[in-house]
Amino acid sequence: MPRMLRTPGASLLALVALCGAVESGRAQNTSDQVTFAKDIAPILQRSCQNCHRPGNIGPMSLLTYQDVRPWARAIKQQVVQRNMPPWYIDRAVGIHSFKNDPSLSDQEIAMISKWADAGAPQGNAADLPAPRKFEDGDRWHIGKPDIIVTLKKDVLVKAKAPDQWVDLPTEDLGVKINRYIQAVEVKPIKGVAVVHHAVATMQFEDEQGNEQQSLLEEYAVGKFGDIYAENTGRVLPAGAKVTMNMHLHAVGADTPANVAVGIKLYPEGYTPKHIEISQHVGDNEDFDIPPNTKNVRVDGYSVLLKPARITAFQPHLHNRGQAQCLELIYPPAQSAGRAPKETVSCVDRYHFDWHIVYHYDEDAQPIVPAGTILHVTSWFDNTAGNKFNPDPSNPVAFGQRTIDDMSFSWLTFYYLTDDEYRQALEDRRAKQKKLTAGLH
Ligand code: HEC
Repeated sequence: MPRMLRTPGASLLALVALCGAVESGRAQNTSDQVTFAKDIAPILQRSCQNCHRPGNIGPMSLLTYQDVRPWARAIKQQVVQRNMPPWYIDRAVGIHSFKNDPSLSDQEIAMISKWADAGAPQGNAADLPAPRKFEDGDRWHIGKPDIIVTLKKDVLVKAKAPDQWVDLPTEDLGVKINRYIQAVEVKPIKGVAVVHHAVATMQFEDEQGNEQQSLLEEYAVGKFGDIYAENTGRVLPAGAKVTMNMHLHAVGADTPANVAVGIKLYPEGYTPKHIEISQHVGDNEDFDIPPNTKNVRVDGYSVLLKPARITAFQPHLHNRGQAQCLELIYPPAQSAGRAPKETVSCVDRYHFDWHIVYHYDEDAQPIVPAGTILHVTSWFDNTAGNKFNPDPSNPVAFGQRTIDDMSFSWLTFYYLTDDEYRQALEDRRAKQKKLTAGLH
């Protein structure tokens, strides 16, 4: 079973140590001064400029000192509250390593605070890092797709309009037989600045003729598609349709927007060894959220009947969503034994306007035995303190509309045979041993 490293105390200690050092060194040693050029610019390059540059979704550019200076106080406030960059994983719980994690460490936040409090000094131009080069958004980063579809027609975002969350159909994918996806990318092709997110979902009929849906891929600024590991792929079911769930945000000028999905397929007749699945888990459709109440808790459970490797987690809640945790409950070693359990991820401040799929690092992906129970707990805030709440005086229940609510996680995983499971655990242990050996 995977062992998590739990060190919430360590980062706190580091922060205290840092503050202590700052206190004692004050005013005597100016080389200790935090400056834009030396300390702040590299952080903004890594974690902010993807969005905060001209033509992108950030409301202002954070490329140069001149751009950044007027925002120093606002930046401090946003990073201290951990609102920016958008990344709402609870850092004190469960897995800590993700692909493309832009979040800031406690030290970085302390540094930004100190810099803003000191009047946001520019520092020595010679310390500035080379400007960051940005990926070309016009290019398909997964290589040349076999299928490209766009929304049936552009969606017009008026100059001034409230934020909109809409589901829009794309053109037909035109797949007549089941195929396997090797790579997939979603990107805006028009109106980049108004598209805050675009999540592509596949709708299809299963073998019993039941309507099913599955998360295909999300667009996030700075994310350039998913290329599945060798021998791993997704099913693209015959006749599948794609719907885009989009969060659109007005920018002061009428802006037509459109997005495209590009899909690279494995050759016809080739079946990858591992099939990645994205499905709802821990659904609960029987709950009531009373008016003017927060911390309303809802639990749901699903079971993995075979061993599996979990690659990504995304909470799915609507307007009243407040937080969600995913806990794994493992089968006990003996019948009627106590079931060991582990919370792998929590999003402790759910933001309805950011759809983020949290992709685990290869070395952190939970490898779980057959019979593992996926326990999803959600909390809801139906008070006026929740800025997305359209009406705190209404009770809320499960439903399809945005103003109803939902409680489940999208989980992405693939099943393993018993042998593959044993092998994956052995590889994980060997790697961890090597890592610990390197520390001594
Ligand atoms: C994924 C895109 C994205 C990233 C990455 C990002 N931002 Fe933002 N930021 C936004 C958007 C969109 C808004 C406006 C809407 C909102 O607040 O959610 C915003 C708002 C802000 C604001 C508030 C502006 C105002 O009008 O008061 C500040 C300050 C800010 N960001 C700073 C940062 C900093 C500093 C970083 C990096 C540490 C960062 N952002 C990373 C997209 C992003």
